[in-house]
Amino acid sequence: MKYDLKNLTLEEKINLLTGKYSKEDWILEDCNGKLPSVSVADGPHGLRDYHKPDECLSMPSAVVLANTWNTELAYLFGNTIADDYIEHDVQINLAPAINIKRTPLCGRNFEYYSEDPFLAGHIAKNYILGFQDQGIGTSLKHFCLNNNEYERNYQSSEVDERTIREIYLPAFEIALQAKPWTVMCAYNLINGIYASEHKKLMKDVLRDEFGFDGVLVSDWHAVCDRARSLKVKLDLEMPYSPTAYDEIMSAYKSGYITIEEIDESAGRMLELIEKTQCEKKVKYSKEQRLENARKIAREGIVLLKNEDNILPLKGGKIMLAGAMARYPIYSGGGSAGSFYKTSPSDRDRLFTEIQQRLSEEGTVYYGGDGAWTDNIRNYTSHSKVVYKNAYSADTVVLFVGDGMEDERENADRTKIKLHVQQEKMILETAKVNKNVVVVVNAGSAIDMSAWIDKVKGVVFMGYLGQTTKEALADILTGMESPSGKLSETFPLCLEDTPSGKNFGNGSVNRYEEGIFMGYRHYDEKELDVLYPFGHGLSYAKFEYSDLKVEKTGKTDYKVTYKIKNVSDVDAKEISQVYVRDVFSNVSRPQKELKGFNKTFIKAGEEKEIETNLNFRSFAFYSVALNKWHIENGDFEILVGASSRDIRLMEKIKIELPWEEQFSLEDGKYITI
Ligand code: BGC
Repeated sequence: MKYDLKNLTLEEKINLLTGKYSKEDWILEDCNGKLPSVSVADGPHGLRDYHKPDECLSMPSAVVLANTWNTELAYLFGNTIADDYIEHDVQINLAPAINIKRTPLCGRNFEYYSEDPFLAGHIAKNYILGFQDQGIGTSLKHFCLNNNEYERNYQSSEVDERTIREIYLPAFEIALQAKPWTVMCAYNLINGIYASEHKKLMKDVLRDEFGFDGVLVSDWHAVCDRARSLKVKLDLEMPYSPTAYDEIMSAYKSGYITIEEIDESAGRMLELIEKTQCEKKVKYSKEQRLENARKIAREGIVLLKNEDNILPLKGGKIMLAGAMARYPIYSGGGSAGSFYKTSPSDRDRLFTEIQQRLSEEGTVYYGGDGAWTDNIRNYTSHSKVVYKNAYSADTVVLFVGDGMEDERENADRTKIKLHVQQEKMILETAKVNKNVVVVVNAGSAIDMSAWIDKVKGVVFMGYLGQTTKEALADILTGMESPSGKLSETFPLCLEDTPSGKNFGNGSVNRYEEGIFMGYRHYDEKELDVLYPFGHGLSYAKFEYSDLKVEKTGKTDYKVTYKIKNVSDVDAKEISQVYVRDVFSNVSRPQKELKGFNKTFIKAGEEKEIETNLNFRSFAFYSVALNKWHIENGDFEILVGASSRDIRLMEKIKIELPWEEQFSLEDGKYITI
């Protein structure tokens, strides 16, 4: 190693364990120039360079990437933004954020991936690989159980161990396979102990079981007691803390912290710094980066409803309306925000793009901004313009959604419905025109119950970043078939969601729903939903057949099935493989996602898809045995187009030897 602990004094080693004292919060300690300077920056959807914001790409938000269900695009996502990091001389990206979407009210859901750990983990893993293959480090965050913003610095997530193991840790386990250079701890407490001081989660699980040997960094100002956090192997407190040095030094002098512990963390800091010095080469031109962003944005758009094939737009008189048609929101707010590009120069971008693309087939006109938020003054006159203009249109496309103030870090959403005035605009417009398509520009689930039956089409665009207009126009005009599917359930109403309106009492947040998170909850309670997890329509039609499940190992199976595109449109289909334990001595979800594929299938073509299942696909975490455990018996392998549209089913029987069913020894960790 180029940088050696032997060349540092004790004081320098301790200094390395917090950020550099500087006006900015983004620089690691360099021991007065003995070490190279290393910068970190947010964030998940593009580099946040305060000095030159306009030079950086604003990518689609994580919700959009997750809705692609495309791991190759997740790789491309990281690979593409990494170039901005190289050009701006920033060595570590503070992302991806993979906290489970426990409630649609969480203000940061737009920057998280899913309610399902398997999907979130695989997207994150590939995002990390894409970044790090370009020589830029990542920070897998926020470890763990930070699932809402309310009182995030003080609240304890009170959760049972099985739920932690089955719902809140697996996304990290999968993403860790990509070896992120750093992991960031969460702000909150878990069962009464701060994440930054949590021995069981940080040291025993993350380090010893999952084998994470990179730098464990605090979320910004998340450390309460520096000595205690160092003891559980939190290497780096960020940003610079004026008290960190004294706290560590006095803990060392008192014997609470040993020199070995200081060396271990300082050593990991040196390894990290060394990694940042690798050779880096920009891979994509600015144009290619934009093209990549557009590709991802396009594949993350979800077509939720398409009655009478109202989409793609077919010409005639098309009216676009709603302020977001002119000023689309690119991103939610906070550290993951990449909204600076929503400048006045972007005005009319989306509208003019669609207008140009459809100019030969018909006339596209703008029907007015209508209502944006509830606060808008003169709402009635604004929206009246919209209804009046809608009357004579062949098709109306209304843009609605959440603003940055609705979905952002540091605050949760207060509701999951659109602003009342937007709902009213949809309802009134639908009264004067039968062909209404609603495009939703938001970062998380929306309750559409008030208006869903009155409109023919609904598109959930998410926050698409800088290439919003191109990507959306590609889908609306039919240049490409939609191929996104929901990475979270859209419930009928907030009251139906696993944790409802429950954010706890400020100090404690009880995860009473346990393992029944997301679709696991709606299945368990047999609740209807607006749109299920995994739902998304296409302009093509697919038929599933020939499911075969072949045993390849003691608990390993090869699953194959065929999908035929029975339409005349080339398109991609996301197929999902779920596993159900038919009878169990513990309560288990009706089904759990254990595999997925996104496949491009030409019109008329048929393809065979393959997925592999392993021990963890069938196991639950037994708190009695203290290990992952499979109970002998029948399992169903379910293949579907969504979690509520299962097309194929096969049964298998697992018959493990008696000793494996009744072993009393603590299990060794079993890889996911
Ligand atoms: C956020 C992190 C972010 C950090 C630095 C914190 O408030 O929770 O996600 O990386 O700030 O901006």
